[in-house]
Amino acid sequence: MTKTYAVIGDPIDHSLSPAIHNAAFAFLGLDCTYIAYRIPKGELSEGIESLKLINIAGFNVTIPHKIEMMKFLDDMDEDCKTIGATNTVNNENGKFKGYNTDMDGFLEPIKQRNQSCKDSNVLLIGAGGAARAIVAAFAKEKAHKITVANRTREKAEELVKFANNLGLESDHTDLVNAGNTTGNYKFIVNATSVGMKNNTSPISTRMINKDCTVYDLVYMPVDTELLEQSKKQGATIIYGWEMLLAQAMRSFEIWTKRKAPYEAMKLTLLGRF
Ligand code: ATR
Repeated sequence: MTKTYAVIGDPIDHSLSPAIHNAAFAFLGLDCTYIAYRIPKGELSEGIESLKLINIAGFNVTIPHKIEMMKFLDDMDEDCKTIGATNTVNNENGKFKGYNTDMDGFLEPIKQRNQSCKDSNVLLIGAGGAARAIVAAFAKEKAHKITVANRTREKAEELVKFANNLGLESDHTDLVNAGNTTGNYKFIVNATSVGMKNNTSPISTRMINKDCTVYDLVYMPVDTELLEQSKKQGATIIYGWEMLLAQAMRSFEIWTKRKAPYEAMKLTLLGRF
């Protein structure tokens, strides 16, 4: 019988996940299909019931449900527990087990470049849901210190506490000061949505230099203002689509226990931009 997978969230109509996963299923000749299912905030419980009724084989979870979904899990893996959010659920004999592939998905492109996070100083711009997985990733890799720059100070403070609880030294600053001190960091990560709609950078790029690696989680447009400027100034850059692809590959592998077809998934993803 055909297995059905899904991505749940809101908004969901521009999600690239159905295209990437369906390409992978087709490439491997698996009898599986992947749909986008819009579940508005506040309707997660009913949405989950519907997924159970159609015997969903597994699903991805995106904004705004990554944290709330934790309540509906029967079991979870370590990363999911650490981060306190899930982006991947697998139906294991009727039980929903939660995973979080954002953390390893984030680290994958760094590792592909043979870069080490160990003992590094990190500037993290943003303190929302995506930022938590990144803090957990740098904690896991034993970074030296993470500085959180966020528009809303209280959220930055919360994230600093989260980092400290994971044993990672952390402090916070504002977006202006962050822009003036970018030269102090090995990694600069944008986990805000700034750059998605208009051509702006969340911080000043003036001081970014060739010793920095600049990683933007925004993947649309591919070349954000932050990445464009950083590249001009000689920095190593990592594109948002690389994390998108890496986390999707890991979800695929959890569900199918098969190696995800990188080229097929990448071609499909890049074809959508
Ligand atoms: P996600 O799950 O993608 O991280 P989120 O939890 O809504 O989404 O977080 C969005 C992040 O982008 C936050 O850090 C937010 O800053 P605030 O905490 O001040 O809200 C940041 N952000 C969004 N729009 C922004 C803007 N125009 N300028 C600066 N930061 C912005």
